[in-house]
Amino acid sequence: MLKIKQISSGYGESQIIFDIHMQIDQGTIVSLVGSNAAGKTTLINTISGLIKAWSGTVEFLGEDITALSPAARVDRGLIQTPEGRRLFPDLTIKENLLMGSYSKVVRAKRQENLDYVYHLFPKLLERTSQLAGSLSGGEQQMCAVARSLMACPKLLILDEPSLGLAPILIVKVFEIIEDIKKKGVTILLVEQNVQKALCLADKAYVLESGRITLEGTGQALLKNDQLQKAYLGI
Ligand SMILES: Nc1ncnc2c1ncn2[C@@H]1O[C@H](COP(=O)(O)OP(=O)(O)OP(=O)(O)O)[C@@H](O)[C@H]1O
Ligand SMILES: [Mg+2]
Repeated sequence: MLKIKQISSGYGESQIIFDIHMQIDQGTIVSLVGSNAAGKTTLINTISGLIKAWSGTVEFLGEDITALSPAARVDRGLIQTPEGRRLFPDLTIKENLLMGSYSKVVRAKRQENLDYVYHLFPKLLERTSQLAGSLSGGEQQMCAVARSLMACPKLLILDEPSLGLAPILIVKVFEIIEDIKKKGVTILLVEQNVQKALCLADKAYVLESGRITLEGTGQALLKNDQLQKAYLGI
């Protein structure tokens, strides 16, 4: 579904991402793990087009999308939920959710998608008229994921969805990710919660200083000595 080849990118003169190759098959969950400042957000922003690739190609569903705008990628079903929350604070939950299906391509599916996200996140339905800016951090996180689902993602990129959540909510977030997969959505998951992210992953990549240093099935990486020492403290 997604193939990236020899991708490099960065900011100004400073290169952050070096020669990355990745492949994501349809219907799978792929986890991208790595320590702070490894370049995870920079890499996925390059995939979604928010940052321009310096070199290399991004192919989505057989099409070379390297030169496309972020909006054109969204129309093709490549949707990213940003790190942090980035909701519209002065709009209600429902208005925020509807903004997720603003594009013409998905507007016809609005009601269906709204029903689905309210089913996944009943709290959002209870609070549908509350201003997003007044939600708790965890609720905003849920609302941001729900808004991404409103856009009919084929590939959903989640940047640290469990960040800052209480343990009970973290469990819930991972359950929801599995539910989204069952719906047929392919998922690229960036996570600091390495153990959980690997348990869930069909395939995983470890990013260190902008380079992929390990890749394999989630299960294989969980058993890998190098990874256990660096990320699981075993
Ligand atoms: N807009 C920017 N301008 C310049 N440098 C940046 C910018 N954004 C990020 N960086 C730098 O790029 C490097 C990688 O950052 P990035 O946000 O991709 O890491 P990350 O793996 O997502 O980290 P975290 O787990 O903390 O979110 C860091 O050294 C960071 O300071
Ligand atoms: Mg990040």
